[in-house]
Amino acid sequence: MSRRKVFATHKLFEEPRRLLTQHFDVEFWEEEERPPRAEVLKRVAGQDALICLLTEKVNDELLDAAGPQLRMVANVAVGFDNIDVPACTRRKIVATNTPGVLDETTADFAWTLLMAVARRLGQGEALARSGNWRGWSLDQLCGADVWGKTLGILGFGRIGKAVARRSQGFGMKVIYNDAVRASGDAEKELRAEFKTREEVLAEADFLSLHVPLLPDTRHLINAESLQRMKRTAFVINTSRGPVVDEAALVGALEARQIAGAALDVYEQEPKIHPGLVGRKDVVLAPHLASASVATRTKMALIAVNNVIALFAGQKPATALNPEVL
Ligand code: GLV
Repeated sequence: MSRRKVFATHKLFEEPRRLLTQHFDVEFWEEEERPPRAEVLKRVAGQDALICLLTEKVNDELLDAAGPQLRMVANVAVGFDNIDVPACTRRKIVATNTPGVLDETTADFAWTLLMAVARRLGQGEALARSGNWRGWSLDQLCGADVWGKTLGILGFGRIGKAVARRSQGFGMKVIYNDAVRASGDAEKELRAEFKTREEVLAEADFLSLHVPLLPDTRHLINAESLQRMKRTAFVINTSRGPVVDEAALVGALEARQIAGAALDVYEQEPKIHPGLVGRKDVVLAPHLASASVATRTKMALIAVNNVIALFAGQKPATALNPEVL
């Protein structure tokens, strides 16, 4: 029997790459630069499965270009707002994501950003490298304390909880809001208090966002919500860019309604709102939260194992539309 065909829009890491090529005829996109849309549409044609990144929009256009034999779209990301899952379902294509393996790594990075913006690390680094540092001074780049402050979390799923867990070493108070309230045991273990969204906005010194991007969460942080926040508060976003209305955020920073922001994700990646780029009170990262070698390898392995499972007649571990199976 001829081997199934898979197109991977990235060369992947060594172990998942080897595993994939053991099972399938694989075409990898080998370049560092992501593939242009036209290349993806061309190369996906006739494939049995697609392994893609969050930078690929998997919509009717792509599924049409693929053709009727496409059976799986395996996203190497936990967020799947780039995939039109109902369109996959209509065509009996299984869509999968990579939950579970990146929670701790992502929580580490939310803390990296939180600490960096509070303690002005970006500005300090720039000064240290500039050749213009004149030495220690009492009021040089003084920032905000983290310890003992209130951490507000919007979205209390696996990643939000992992962020909360880390706050205990800093003696922080944790408040959160989510569509679903956590169990009493989880609240106790994490010493987290459920509050309304408005209360979390008003009371947080650090507001960390961990919601998925859904119609309800688009621009969750907007002019109105920013107005509710303390002037001394910071926003940290490692979820999805459109959860924050960037124009409103720039407005709030300009008006000093909040003290700063640390962002890993943007409304129109890789574009970053020009009003953010020049600001000293923001820390900007290029969508790195899950970017440890170990975690990104695990994510790719989940995607590869999903494809292997499907064509071995087994259930892929992380199907988003299991009704198709
Ligand atoms: C990264 O942003 C992911 O969704 O895995």
